[in-house]
Amino acid sequence: MAKILDGKALAEEIKREVKKEVESLREFGIEVGLGLLLVGANSASKQYYNAILKACRTVGIKAFEFSLSEEASINEILNVIHEANRDERINGLLVLFPLPRRINARRVVNEILPEKDVDGLGAISIGRLAADESTFQIFHEGVYKELNQTGFFPAVSGFLPCTPFGVIRLLEYYGIELKGKHAVVVGKSLAVGKPLSLMLLAKEATVTVCHRETRDLSHHTRQADIICTATGVRGLIKGDMVKEGAVVVDIGINVLEDGSIVGDVEFDSVKEKASYITPVPGGVGPVTIAMLLENTVRSAKRTEAMKSPLMLS
Ligand SMILES: NC(=O)c1ccc[n+]([C@@H]2O[C@H](COP(=O)([O-])OP(=O)(O)OC[C@H]3O[C@@H](n4cnc5c(N)ncnc54)[C@H](OP(=O)(O)O)[C@@H]3O)[C@@H](O)[C@H]2O)c1
Repeated sequence: MAKILDGKALAEEIKREVKKEVESLREFGIEVGLGLLLVGANSASKQYYNAILKACRTVGIKAFEFSLSEEASINEILNVIHEANRDERINGLLVLFPLPRRINARRVVNEILPEKDVDGLGAISIGRLAADESTFQIFHEGVYKELNQTGFFPAVSGFLPCTPFGVIRLLEYYGIELKGKHAVVVGKSLAVGKPLSLMLLAKEATVTVCHRETRDLSHHTRQADIICTATGVRGLIKGDMVKEGAVVVDIGINVLEDGSIVGDVEFDSVKEKASYITPVPGGVGPVTIAMLLENTVRSAKRTEAMKSPLMLS
């Protein structure tokens, strides 16, 4: 029977640390701010938006809310982004997805300044992740450890996308070694599957990425030491697709008619085979929000470190 990877517990721990950092920045007159842009009234996005607002209140981050109607034009959306880019009070900006279908989401996300791209999905942030310029943040050894401990954040590094960053942190929290393991990522989206596979590679796992066109998905998942699935297909991963003792991370979110939420994994059959499993809800979701807050504080600290003159009294 699998042990539960409890995302809520980790998220609470991260938020406690973030709150301390927010309070210590406040002592220097620095308020940490996060901009949130919601376009339209997608109910899942609205739910996520409200959960972020609540988390911001808990840790003392000031939220700046921008809301546009479903009919908003691309230029109206870009105006909000430019306004947030210029606003000194805003350290990070998150655009809630999905955007209306007629809007080019890449055009929008690429307009966020990399210094404020706390969800790490702009082309520069993703490029820096792929080029290994940001991956020091998922290491706690050697030179990486020193960088993390000093809080020094090289100007050329980007923010890591919150969901995959949260997955790595969750695995780390439970002491799950990645080096040399075979990780199978199901889903190759820019928001989750692709950056997660890059992070797993950086951690020296052997990575297989599966997607809609993958032939015989179960052939791949059965060989995995670690399965991470992010497809939004309910019940895609079943017990007979999982090797005995594998670690199973379910990132998928599927909202049922009665409003309840389930993941991609058939929890009851898979928990009998896996050594560890994430519940949905209560697994990756809460950690994603905690990482967003952590990245926002990191952004505030980096801006201060880069812009403040050294004051000697
Ligand atoms: N927990 C969290 O914090 C969090 C955060 C973000 C997203 N999510 C959830 O994670 C899921 C994925 O989100 P996303 O933004 O990555 O979605 P997405 O952009 O729609 O991507 C879904 C991916 O799954 C693949 N896929 C779909 N059906 C498949 C199948 N039958 N077999 C194998 N692969 C399949 C797609 O393959 P192709 O590329 O070939 O089409 C695609 O790469 C959603 O349920 C979303 O709500 C959760």
